Amino acid sequence: MGFYADRVVPRIVNVACGVKSAEPLRRRVCAGLTGEVVEIGFGSGHNVPYYPPAVTRVTAVEPSDLGWRLAGDRVAASSIPVERSGLDGQSLPFDDDRFDTALSTWTLCTIPDVDAALREVRRVLKPGGTLHFVEHGLAPDESVRRWQRRFDPLEQRLFGGCHLTRPIAALITSAGFTITEVDEFYEKGSPKVGGAFTLGRADNPGQP
Ligand SMILES: C[S@@+](CC[C@H](N)C(=O)[O-])C[C@H]1O[C@@H](n2cnc3c(N)ncnc32)[C@H](O)[C@@H]1O
Repeated sequence: MGFYADRVVPRIVNVACGVKSAEPLRRRVCAGLTGEVVEIGFGSGHNVPYYPPAVTRVTAVEPSDLGWRLAGDRVAASSIPVERSGLDGQSLPFDDDRFDTALSTWTLCTIPDVDAALREVRRVLKPGGTLHFVEHGLAPDESVRRWQRRFDPLEQRLFGGCHLTRPIAALITSAGFTITEVDEFYEKGSPKVGGAFTLGRADNPGQP
C-alpha cells in the first residue's frame, strides 16, 4: 500500500461514507441484526450508531489502520462492544459457524476477490444466520452500465479498488446464500453510475 491508499483513501471514505443521505439506509440495513455480528469492511464505523440493542458484540474486519482509528469516537461511544479482529474479508481468522449475523455496507465493491469473501462470510455464519447488506453495483439499465464500464478503471484507481460493475445480488446468490429480501434502486441525488444500490438480507442455508 502506498501513501495515497494508506493515508488518503481512508479519509475520502470516511467523508464519502459519512454523508447524511446514507443514514436512513444504515438504519434499514442494521435493523434485525442480532447476537454476535461480523462486519466486513468496517471502515470508520459509520454503522455503529445503528446497531440494534439485540446485538451483543461486533467483530470488525478492516484492513485500514487509519480507518479503524477514525472510528475511535464512534466505537468508544457504543454501548455494544466492538473489536477489530480481522484484516481481510477474503480470509477470516474465525471458526466455522461462529456468528449469528453479518453486515456489509458498500464493501463488496472493493474486496478484490469478492467471491472468496462471501464464501468466508458464509463459512463463519451459523446455519440459518443472515447477511445484511447494502451495496452499490451494476445498474439495471444498459445505458447506465455503459457509463459504469467507462468509469470503472478510474473509480478503481481513485477509490482504493472500488468497482462500479459488480452484480451484487448474483454474487451473493452464487456464494450459496438465499436472498430473502432485496430492494434495488437508484439512490436519489447520486449519479446513477455509483448510485445503483442493492439492499437486503440473505440467509446462510448451511454448508453443502
Ligand atoms: C467504501 S468503504 C465502506 C466502509 C464502511 N462499510 C461504510 O459503510 O462506511 C469500503 C471498505 O472496505 C474495506 N476493504 C478493502 N479491502 C478489504 C478486504 N480485503 N477485506 C475487508 N475490507 C476491505 C476498505 O478498507 C474500506 O473501509
